[in-house]
Amino acid sequence: MAHQLEVERLSHSWIEEIEATKRRLGDELLILAHHYQRDEIVKVADFRGDSLELARRAAASSAHWITFCGVHFMAETAAILARPGQQVLIPRADAGCFLAHSVDRVQLLDAWERLSQAIDVERELLPVAYVNTSAEVKAFVGERGGACCTSSSAGKVLAWALARAPKVFFLPDQHLGRNTAHALGIGDAEIALWDPNYPPEDLSQFRRARVILWRGACNVHVRFLPEDVTRVRKEHPGVRVVVHPECRPEVVRLADEVGSTSHIIRVVEGSPPGAGWAVGTEHRLVARLAKENPDKKVVSLGDPPPYCAYMSLIRLPDLARVLSGLLSGEEPGLVEVPEEVAGPARAALDRMWEALDDGR
Ligand code: 13P
Ligand code: SF4
Repeated sequence: MAHQLEVERLSHSWIEEIEATKRRLGDELLILAHHYQRDEIVKVADFRGDSLELARRAAASSAHWITFCGVHFMAETAAILARPGQQVLIPRADAGCFLAHSVDRVQLLDAWERLSQAIDVERELLPVAYVNTSAEVKAFVGERGGACCTSSSAGKVLAWALARAPKVFFLPDQHLGRNTAHALGIGDAEIALWDPNYPPEDLSQFRRARVILWRGACNVHVRFLPEDVTRVRKEHPGVRVVVHPECRPEVVRLADEVGSTSHIIRVVEGSPPGAGWAVGTEHRLVARLAKENPDKKVVSLGDPPPYCAYMSLIRLPDLARVLSGLLSGEEPGLVEVPEEVAGPARAALDRMWEALDDGR
């Protein structure tokens, strides 16, 4: 109890310091936070959202400094979309992402080269990269006419790509790719899996496939299993199941709803009092949903519930350090992408806006 009081006292003083710096920097500063961030970080942010909403918000902002409380690829995406003179900072540069780490440009060049022995890659194959990738991977995709997508834009982007090429190379999340393909009516017979660690000798399956998936996965979302759906339905009769599309297809197939983090929030918040939800996504979001919707039953689909270790890294002192640096003329945690990488990566992101047909 004494420990808890001490933690609250410290948090309170960090929050006061952050709020005071925010007042001093005014419109020059925008703090963005992803839904998986800690509660205290979300509380001091100007805006919280899913990956697509955060990218949009960053791109529309005229603030001089955008402090991104999320993982590195998200801050990098904001830096790629930033206007001249605008700076993006991340309080923990080591906040990575299991998916983003599962593919790099060298592996991708190797895959492209090997696939070219079976497919006319320049004419037949269009790459689509989940935003959970490095700027270099986005640039690779942009250079080849491909597009980026987020969990909430994957359907439209995959449809956009398939309207332009007979085959799509979707990377790096095999589950998001397969779930999105299924939703477009593409069955497993038309999908092939590319394992970058064990590239196959026999390439005939890639010649036949419409969608080639990179063998990557989010280690948080793969924790949810079909037996979890069976268990929560038994433990909480009447409960509905909502999951993120990074979950395994066997889980998505059993769920009542699937969508991005913001979609999950809308589904739970929009349901009537007394509704019950088992949620298959990162637990900081699920715990917050439970707290903010006391008239509903909100539980994790997982037992124990999974956390994203990278998203948990940013704490109040990390954010306070970035902001006090700005006051003293420094830019701690600056995220920089050289223009030769940012240019083609931006082209891939621009094609996502094109596929969404909303010009951002
Ligand atoms: P959203 O775009 O749904 O917020 O997902 C980001 C993410 O990293 C999920 O694990
Ligand atoms: Fe990456 Fe998974 Fe964490 Fe999302 S939850 S940021 S995909 S590791």
